[in-house]
Amino acid sequence: MIHAPRLLGADERETYARHLLALDPHDRHLRFGAGLSDCTLRAYASGIDLERDALFGVFYEGVTLIGAAHLARAPSHAEIGLTVAPDFRRRGIGSALVATCCRHARTWGVRSIFMRCAAENTAMRNLARAHGMRLIVDGPEVDAFLAMPERRAIVRPAAPAHH
Ligand SMILES: CC(C)(COP(=O)(O)OP(=O)(O)OC[C@H]1O[C@@H](n2cnc3c(N)ncnc32)[C@H](O)[C@@H]1OP(=O)(O)O)[C@@H](O)C(=O)NCCC(=O)NCCS
Repeated sequence: MIHAPRLLGADERETYARHLLALDPHDRHLRFGAGLSDCTLRAYASGIDLERDALFGVFYEGVTLIGAAHLARAPSHAEIGLTVAPDFRRRGIGSALVATCCRHARTWGVRSIFMRCAAENTAMRNLARAHGMRLIVDGPEVDAFLAMPERRAIVRPAAPAHH
């Protein structure tokens, strides 16, 4: 059974690192723009600031991490970094993670959410389009943007005037 995305805690960094280490060089390149070494991937996983950012995971049978999204928070925007294990692709896991990240980013009140990928990353480009993101090609990279609806201010009804 494939579970819905959930937040990963600090004690699950090692699980996330193992998920990243299982990616082959091509997937590492697609995810990070470079074929990062095992050592660099470990440092990346252990260096995520979980007080500021959010890390979501999808588990198979409750134990194996098969998909993950690092939602990095900046003052005005959030960035999604996404990976799904090769054997579990095209089952909607990446899409579920993006939807979860968008909902979470909305609670932060950021103005936009974006994903960066290599221009040849058809899977990511299609996924971004499916979520209504605007794609901007910049040389060998593509940035996908989604504007976040503004959080509505709570307007209290005016107190009845006393005469
Ligand atoms: C990109 C990635 C996360 C997609 O994950 P996924 O779980 O397979 O995606 P989904 O099953 O949710 O696919 C959603 C939509 O994206 C598009 N898509 C996904 N994989 C695709 C592919 N190989 N080719 C074309 N379109 C694809 C489709 O529109 C798909 O909808 P559909 O299946 O109804 O046609 C996954 O391929 C991956 O981990 N790639 C390596 C790392 C990477 O590229 N990360 C992105 C940079 S941050």
